[in-house]
Amino acid sequence: MEKIAIIDFGGQYTHLISRRIRNLGVYSEIYYPEDFQISNEICGIIFSGGPQNVNSKDTFKINFDITKSKVPILGICYGHQLLASILGGKIKSGENTEYGATAVQIDADCRIFNKMKNDQQVWMSHGDYVSSLPKNFKITASSESIKIAAFESDDGRFYGFQFHPEVTHSTNGMQMLDNFLKKCTAIRDWDSKHFKDDLIAKVREKAVGKKLILLLSGGVDSMVALKLCISAVGNENIFSIHVDTGFMRKNESRELKKHFDNLGFQNIKIIDAEKLYLNELEGVVKPEKKRLIIGKLFVDIANDELAKLDAKEDWMLVQGTIYPDTIESGNSKKSAKIKTHHNRVEEIEKLIKAGKIIEPLKELYKDEVRELGTELGLPKFLVQRHPFPGPGLAIRVICSDKIKRDDDFEKEEKKLNEMLLKYGMCGIILPIKSVGVQGDFRTYHHPAVVWFEEKKTPNWQVLKKVSTKIINNLKTVNRLVFSQNKIEKPKLTKLFLEKSNLMELREVDAILRKKTNIIEAIWQMPIVQLPLINDDGKRDYVIRPVCSQDAMSANFYEMDFFYLKNMISEVQKLPNVGDIFYDITTKPPGTIEWE
Ligand code: XMP
Repeated sequence: MEKIAIIDFGGQYTHLISRRIRNLGVYSEIYYPEDFQISNEICGIIFSGGPQNVNSKDTFKINFDITKSKVPILGICYGHQLLASILGGKIKSGENTEYGATAVQIDADCRIFNKMKNDQQVWMSHGDYVSSLPKNFKITASSESIKIAAFESDDGRFYGFQFHPEVTHSTNGMQMLDNFLKKCTAIRDWDSKHFKDDLIAKVREKAVGKKLILLLSGGVDSMVALKLCISAVGNENIFSIHVDTGFMRKNESRELKKHFDNLGFQNIKIIDAEKLYLNELEGVVKPEKKRLIIGKLFVDIANDELAKLDAKEDWMLVQGTIYPDTIESGNSKKSAKIKTHHNRVEEIEKLIKAGKIIEPLKELYKDEVRELGTELGLPKFLVQRHPFPGPGLAIRVICSDKIKRDDDFEKEEKKLNEMLLKYGMCGIILPIKSVGVQGDFRTYHHPAVVWFEEKKTPNWQVLKKVSTKIINNLKTVNRLVFSQNKIEKPKLTKLFLEKSNLMELREVDAILRKKTNIIEAIWQMPIVQLPLINDDGKRDYVIRPVCSQDAMSANFYEMDFFYLKNMISEVQKLPNVGDIFYDITTKPPGTIEWE
């Protein structure tokens, strides 16, 4: 069978490229650069993105002479730079960074774009760029910041994209990949046929003669994992635990139990562990530390429950881990850690090594999990629920143990306001930090809040431009939020994971979700509590509605401004709620959650 080889240089999207190629009907396999050997079955090669700099001494190398390659090679992001560099081009760093939505002008007459419209929207995530081409290559796309956004060689063997055609937000990305495949093979015989039966068989094989214990977070993934396991080994062999961490949303654990009962799921134990979680997290501020404690507690609780059961040695732990959890936790050999998802903490890694874990969904993306859930007969309203992270609201409270700003933002704020001037906008940088992903690396920088000057009408086109421009140009800022009103510098306050704060966040979240749950385009909407208070001494929040398909890339939802204003007024009726900011950051450079 013919296949496309994808060389993994540690990009966040390597696995996604592989999925897209299979979706287009060609089998694909991922190889580490040092393991790759060319063979007759390979009809094309794709170099993935990655966090490295091509010019650095210890950059990843490949162990075959690409000039002798008989099959077409496409480089994406880091892969595009590596390809250019090996063949005699030059790579520069530092200036001209681009993250998220970017407009490119393409050459519609070239092979790879083949009669597409000249203006294309693509998703970028890079700091470095190709500054000069190898001989006998031509530029096939340019953006405002970089001349060489795509290239191809005159002989049609080499192609490069600085952007990511594999993410759904690159509007014609699939068509571009399809055009590349046309250069590689005329055969499209790979059928990504429904994986349901395959997955059931695999669980059955692993679980034979064993009992399964499943951590049921309440989200879609663990629910689908449970249904899959029931189909494989029957209710009687599974014992599920739902831990109410105290970080669930309003009434969530109670409602979940009702749904599980209706679905006929048996042997489910709900454990009230709020006190335990709040005790262990008392005074903890750092996002990674919070995540590690939360993940470890899940394992401790599962172990306690196991100890109460008979035949302890015959149990295996099932987790609803999906692919983005693995890649973001830095689990691919060459990828950077963006955040440690709760199901990838050290204790779990040990169990994985000991062969005690089953993760039937770990190769799938959210949209595939939903498809599988539907095929397994779960009702649409449960399968289509917004994703909710395992650590729950705990990663939506931005904790702080300081009341004084560490940094002086004067210079950066001046630059920010110079950039905003031509749009009739102003802004400030907030004295807090949030996680982002830029050029396949984790970032942990400041959000800036921007607003329109009086008499200026808010406008989404402007906000989109401003968001990209500011983050591409200000090193200290990795996230932009929008305020409907002018903001005085908010005061930094101490904030920890405490019951009263969580109760308030739950109320704000419940009101805002009720107002938006009919908007289908919103894929997920974290509400974030900030360690900031406004002039009236009230707490500030962020609303982060995103549109996505698989959580690997995301755009912010463009809400009607009048609707937003009403919604904010409604939530501000709560006694302690101050300013509500609206997150206008794509992924990348932001992540969906703030921590
Ligand atoms: P980010 O914030 O990385 O999130 O863009 C991508 C998706 O993953 C969810 N998420 C998690 N889910 N455990 C989970 O089960 C975690 O630790 C975790 N962290 C983020 C997030 O809500 C989004 O849907």
